[in-house]
Amino acid sequence: MQAARLHETGGPDKVRLEDVSAPEAGAGETIVRVHAAALNHRDVFITRGLYPNIVLPRTLGADCCGEAGGAEVVVDPTIGWGGDERVWKPDATILGVPLDGTFAEFVVVPQENVHSKPEHLSVEEAAALPLGGVTAYRAMFVRGKLQAGETVLITGVGGGVQTFALLYAKAAGARTVVTSSRDGKLERAKALGADVAINYATTPDWHKAVKAAVGAVDLAIDSAGGDSFAKALSVVRPGGRAVTYGGTSGDTSLKMFPIFWHQLSIFGTSMGSPADFKAMLAFVSQHRIKPIVDRVYELSEIKSAMQRMDDALQFGKIVLRIPQ
Ligand SMILES: NC(=O)c1ccc[n+]([C@@H]2O[C@H](COP(=O)([O-])OP(=O)(O)OC[C@H]3O[C@@H](n4cnc5c(N)ncnc54)[C@H](OP(=O)(O)O)[C@@H]3O)[C@@H](O)[C@H]2O)c1
Repeated sequence: MQAARLHETGGPDKVRLEDVSAPEAGAGETIVRVHAAALNHRDVFITRGLYPNIVLPRTLGADCCGEAGGAEVVVDPTIGWGGDERVWKPDATILGVPLDGTFAEFVVVPQENVHSKPEHLSVEEAAALPLGGVTAYRAMFVRGKLQAGETVLITGVGGGVQTFALLYAKAAGARTVVTSSRDGKLERAKALGADVAINYATTPDWHKAVKAAVGAVDLAIDSAGGDSFAKALSVVRPGGRAVTYGGTSGDTSLKMFPIFWHQLSIFGTSMGSPADFKAMLAFVSQHRIKPIVDRVYELSEIKSAMQRMDDALQFGKIVLRIPQ
């Protein structure tokens, strides 16, 4: 079968298309014939060696929609979460490094990770859903406990996960404030229902613009880290919450006084439990939420697809069509 594989780190250019043997299912595993896969920023980080537990060579990719046992399916990319809803087990992992992933004609996964494709989604939309969809769901509802009528800040709204955060917040009846590096993405976000949209690249003091527009927010969701997280925290109301699931732009230092004086809650989150994944699928089906597909590439165009993500040109999810 054809697969997009990484033999050495050094950036997206190191990804190679090659012919490899199709995987075989062991006990409790299922083979999924992949129809479409989707990129996540971790795929780019892995090519650069910026990820724990990299084992090479490996097939990249955490997300897919495909066929198993005659049914259209999506795959929960979290492998071995364990029994604690609060946190995954230390040896839990994600499909696509250290396990062979979805940028291939076939992928082998644990049986319990295979779920029916939501009926209202196309194959490409369904492929875009799993990792970003569950990460945003847990961040927004399980950790962030967003309520209808609250105001939520979503930084870097063009990102794959953050576009889900926007769609979920609107479906849940929240008011949304979004930031992005590009005006075009802010226009797209407004068309999806964002109430306030601010360009963080051209407005370095964007947190002051947030305060001017809405006063303060009940909840902030951030994956940029660095300066973005510190500024996001500065606009959270007394008693409010901030959730982080990433550090794309690095680490930060925080002012301590507002955190304890205003009694803020800061939550870390990663991926989602099997229960979160099922709840996410139910929420997406109930509200007929359609993942934002930025662009669909052929598997053979994997390097261009990764470059688009590396250049932060996308709005939503970048999808790969897998040859059949
Ligand atoms: N912990 C977990 O389980 C988990 C799960 C998924 C993702 N993540 C992490 O979350 C991050 C996003 O992942 P993704 O797959 O959604 O990536 P992505 O689609 O490539 O999105 C990244 C987005 O981050 C935004 N961004 C970058 N620098 C920023 C800054 N300084 N301030 C504000 N926004 C900034 C940009 O938004 P604009 O284009 O709008 O400017 C960019 O499009 C990555 O670090 C990833 O590793 C973690």
